[in-house]
Amino acid sequence: MDMRKTDLPCDDEAKLQYDYIEKAKKYVKTESERLGRPLFASVITFGCQMNARDSEKLAGILEQTGYRLTDSEEDADFVIYNTCTVRDNANQRVFGRLGYLNSMKKKKPHLKIALCGCMMQEDAVIEKIKKSYRFVDLIFGTHNLYKFAQLFVTMFENASVEGLSKEDRKKAGGSPMVIDIWQETDRIVEDLPVSRKYSYKSGINIMFGCNNFCSYCIVPYVRGRERSREPREILREIERLAADGVVEIMLLGQNVNSYGKNLSVPFTFAQLLREVERIDGIRRIRFMTSHPKDLSDELIQVMKESSKICHHLHLPLQSGSDRILHKMNRRYTKEQYLTLVRKIREAVPDIAITTDIIVGFPGETMEDVDETIDVVKQAAFDNAFTFIYSKRTGTPAAAMENQVPEEVVRPAFDKLLKVVQDTAKERALLLQGKVMEALVEEINEQDASLVTGRLSNNMLVHFPGDASDIGKLMMVSLDECHGFYYTGQRK
Ligand code: 5AD
Ligand code: SF4
Repeated sequence: MDMRKTDLPCDDEAKLQYDYIEKAKKYVKTESERLGRPLFASVITFGCQMNARDSEKLAGILEQTGYRLTDSEEDADFVIYNTCTVRDNANQRVFGRLGYLNSMKKKKPHLKIALCGCMMQEDAVIEKIKKSYRFVDLIFGTHNLYKFAQLFVTMFENASVEGLSKEDRKKAGGSPMVIDIWQETDRIVEDLPVSRKYSYKSGINIMFGCNNFCSYCIVPYVRGRERSREPREILREIERLAADGVVEIMLLGQNVNSYGKNLSVPFTFAQLLREVERIDGIRRIRFMTSHPKDLSDELIQVMKESSKICHHLHLPLQSGSDRILHKMNRRYTKEQYLTLVRKIREAVPDIAITTDIIVGFPGETMEDVDETIDVVKQAAFDNAFTFIYSKRTGTPAAAMENQVPEEVVRPAFDKLLKVVQDTAKERALLLQGKVMEALVEEINEQDASLVTGRLSNNMLVHFPGDASDIGKLMMVSLDECHGFYYTGQRK
């Protein structure tokens, strides 16, 4: 089944999907009447913020069709895994949990299981699922998520035509698994339902896909080419969110610094930020992720002038060795990266800069890792996510010679991690005794008399409070540093 053939203008496409939501309602109602209770759905997210936002879109459609949402897979009548494939361990986690879903389905034959997201864009994954995980009902990818209502109806129609038992399925001529994976799309369908996880903050996609082709990275292959949303659509969505009580937004894209380059009327990311800043009700603006090669002086200027852009920048370094950066196709040098960090810190002195680092890229030596460690010290990262290189089939790096065995990577990784942690602690300690504004996010998981707030620089602070504080901005003293978070009091 390839539904691209029905290509409609995007507005009509959205209408079509609303029609499918109406159809889906009937299936949900019938099933619910059969069971004599409401139906529950659980959307489980693996991976990044982009995936989390996609899950909110799936949840929005499910809610419209009549499902109630639950975090508990055990209670669900429909489970969706929104998968990630950036590293192989993300794939392994999904396969591990599929075994558990299979056992659940044996106890609860009406359970529906769907898989979507980045991992489903890989041919080898689909082959494996077709062969060994035949209990899965629906598989789709990253490009046709907006078709979810339609796919959902197809899945139910399949089930009712072919019955639920294995024998019935065979008799009806094969697998009832609905699989629809597209290699690419140029469309952005607006205005489909969304069910937000948080009332007070929200992610907003500003662009999809990636054109950078870093040699280790699978993202361009699974998320496709870069496409930016029209500024007016983004601003309209944020205005609506603000009217709905959202105070903090995060602009999402694989490479937000190249936002707008492919629009019919080009528009820069810095321009977009200036427009977002004007929206009443929005108090905090974040964005993710920046590529150092595209971070413009105009953006630094906007960050300096803004009263809403948070003082946190996630700026993936990946490696501090020029030799490795070149092989990674990152298109900057160690010195260029450090110059950029200096410029940013000069413009916004209290900014927190965090990063991503990969250790064990093909051909990497301890000298290369020492170069990375040198950058960690000089840039004084407030935090760094460190990853062991994972070979992703189809990427240029997977075909490179000198793949480094894990036992050789480990000591280098541990050495780097120690410096990262020491640097982060030193940076965190600089805030001791300050009073800063925190957005209260939730009740503290360990101690229900405390709430957890997030500072502009992304650090967490725990302090006395209750559920009525959630979503509010308040001044908090940073009394005691516990490494990566603070405890304090409201002021
Ligand atoms: N192996 C290890 N880490 C990777 N990342 C991306 N691809 C790989 C890979 N093949 C890391 C990068 C990126 C983060 C999201 O994941 O550091 O910034
Ligand atoms: Fe994972 Fe990348 Fe997909 Fe995000 S975009 S879910 S990090 S593979």
